[in-house]
Amino acid sequence: MNRKVTKAIFPVAGLGTRFLPATKSVPKEIMTLVDKPLIQYAVDEARAAGIKEFIFVTSRGKGALEDYFDHAPQLENELRKKGKDALLEILKNTNMDSGEVAYMRQHKALGLGHAVWCARRLIGNEPFAVILPDDVIAAERPCLGQMVDAYAETGGNMVAAMEVRPDQTSSYGILDIDQDMGAVASVKGMVEKPAQEDAPSNLAVIGRYILNPSVLRTLNKLKSGAGGEIQLTDAIAAEIGEDRAGVYGYRFQGQRFDCGSKSGFLQATVAFGLARAELRDELHEYLESMLAYRNAAE
Ligand code: UTP
Repeated sequence: MNRKVTKAIFPVAGLGTRFLPATKSVPKEIMTLVDKPLIQYAVDEARAAGIKEFIFVTSRGKGALEDYFDHAPQLENELRKKGKDALLEILKNTNMDSGEVAYMRQHKALGLGHAVWCARRLIGNEPFAVILPDDVIAAERPCLGQMVDAYAETGGNMVAAMEVRPDQTSSYGILDIDQDMGAVASVKGMVEKPAQEDAPSNLAVIGRYILNPSVLRTLNKLKSGAGGEIQLTDAIAAEIGEDRAGVYGYRFQGQRFDCGSKSGFLQATVAFGLARAELRDELHEYLESMLAYRNAAE
């Protein structure tokens, strides 16, 4: 199997109920960290990893997302007339060329596995990446790029993994490790959202994957798994076994923010704000004054 990864699926069809009422009309993926939508962080990371085809699995109400990646001639003309070259340059990153991007509709929110399956005809017989834009990862070398490098060595299927606290295992897919080689660990089982006492490890899967096309064929056959949704974890777990391609967990370097949750989103906003030279001092001062106020109140 060829190990060059040039296609990525971005499942963005979820309802985003944790952010209601905002997500009644604004797709979660368009919500911004400082001044960039979550989806732009995901696309930038994919580009840096060598991805050439961007496949979005969308649903009703996600029109803002399609518009976001389109050219905006009127806005661009105005900026050009005013000589705002820096802003024009920023907009360039948001424009997708024709043929580079595809939108596939998931008609019912039947889960992440189903969303990935919806894109099967655009993948064909080659490995592909899946990026969940809710998981934003701050890293010197972007996470997917790290994985693409590791995947070139291992082949098989690769999932991004990170250690979580034992009381958090019930929020994640958890890996049962076979051989631990440091950054890469081969996996002998995967359990979706186990209770602390049933978890085989505290190594959790987060939203970056490099998958073999046979996962799509497995998704085809799967009935609903845990929680009544078609689980991607179940289809990946089917890749484990003697005559199968295998699954590897990859401990990435970087800090992951769960921007699908309110507290994760707020933490990411602060962290990305502090990382910006033009905002750092003022934000820092403000945070200090808030803490001093809280300490005084206590
Ligand atoms: P989540 O589990 O975060 O679900 O999905 P959600 O609907 O986005 O948000 P909440 O839990 O209701 O607040 C993880 C990723 O999978 C996509 C989501 O868009 C998100 O990127 N997804 C989920 C789909 O594309 N389709 C689905 O049916 C479910």
